[in-house]
Amino acid sequence: MPPVLNDTATIRLQLPADAGRADRSYEIVVGSGVIGSVGPAVAATGARRTVVITDAAVANSHAAATADSMRSSGLDVATLTVPSGEASKSVAALERLWNEMARLAVDRHTHVIGVGGGVVGDLAGFAAATFGRGLPIWHVPTTLVAQVDSAIGGKTGINLGAGKNLVGSFWQPRGVIADVDTLATLPDREFKSGMAEVVKYGMILDPAFFDWLEANAGTILARDAVALRHVVSRSAALKADVVERDEREITGLRAILNYGHTFAHAYETAAGYGTLLHGEAVAIGMVSAAALAQSLGRIGPDVVTRQEQLLRSFDLPVTVPTGAAFTSDALLATMARDKKTVGGRLRFVLPTQIGHVELVDGIDPATVRSIVGG
Ligand SMILES: NC(=O)c1ccc[n+]([C@@H]2O[C@H](COP(=O)([O-])OP(=O)(O)OC[C@H]3O[C@@H](n4cnc5c(N)ncnc54)[C@H](O)[C@@H]3O)[C@@H](O)[C@H]2O)c1
Ligand SMILES: [Zn+2]
Repeated sequence: MPPVLNDTATIRLQLPADAGRADRSYEIVVGSGVIGSVGPAVAATGARRTVVITDAAVANSHAAATADSMRSSGLDVATLTVPSGEASKSVAALERLWNEMARLAVDRHTHVIGVGGGVVGDLAGFAAATFGRGLPIWHVPTTLVAQVDSAIGGKTGINLGAGKNLVGSFWQPRGVIADVDTLATLPDREFKSGMAEVVKYGMILDPAFFDWLEANAGTILARDAVALRHVVSRSAALKADVVERDEREITGLRAILNYGHTFAHAYETAAGYGTLLHGEAVAIGMVSAAALAQSLGRIGPDVVTRQEQLLRSFDLPVTVPTGAAFTSDALLATMARDKKTVGGRLRFVLPTQIGHVELVDGIDPATVRSIVGG
């Protein structure tokens, strides 16, 4: 075999035209050092001006590298930085961005570049979707969660006091450039939390990927660049495929991405936001979903065990934290409010085997109660 000189993976996400854009398809580029290609990619569209939106954790590193790449390509760049953390997905932070963009005289031909994790991506995406009735957005995700999940598929939004992600829009990016080298600076707990979503892709769609994760957990945890490229590119391709077939969560296909999430949201709420990272709650949620599937006779104990062992190999929690005062009443009440329920009956995404799930409606709350205990 010839030596691999260009080890970048490019995934094309195909979408139909709409009234606003003749071609909404875009590329997701995954590789080592690809942050340097952001400038050339944006400049190739004929853009002249750009606004980088980032957070304090990566402003001086990955966002600065992105801005350098754009200046080298002859683009004008302004950078807007928000504080790190979920609190930046707020009306107040969005209003500040809108005002800054107005001050910079941003016009409809200015491209917005979000550089950061899912918080920056959701916020910058929504700012781009709304300012000037819609500006082009590019995502440069720098967390594992953002590279395998939030940067792909066009969901943007902010939180309200009444709940997470209550205001937002679908706004597909012009392109996604995921540089796995940016993951080197990610705190360990954030990295492992992102691996829960990766395990999810194996469980819902790809048994061979699940096998590969089992065989390569050590190199992945060591953040080997070649392993990370496969983790990110395979996950991104699987998500892109689902988004292509059900962009706006209409047919029910996109709902399979919520595997483990109905339980996870209940655990996150019960624990108090911030106690469990989202991926940690998803890990526990997938264990609960598998237990539910087993109790309904949909899978055998082998599937439950393999999933749990893979999650453990990434140092993810598989039971709710000790000391957490969860009552099954509180958990069931949260699940009943979850948007995945229809008409008060409980609906879950449940595995039938490794690599395949089904949306199951009308599950008896008593069965769910026996899974969450309390
Ligand atoms: N739009 C979607 O489809 C979608 C999907 C999943 C999650 N989300 C959203 O994404 C958010 C979670 O994303 P997240 O987990 O990336 O959180 P995040 O953006 O808060 O990033 C986690 C932490 O890592 C820091 N950080 C980011 N990149 C870094 C790097 N390379 N090195 C060091 N530190 C870095 C951030 O400043 C933050 O403190 C939630 O708001 C969630 O609702 C959206
Ligand atoms: Zn998730």
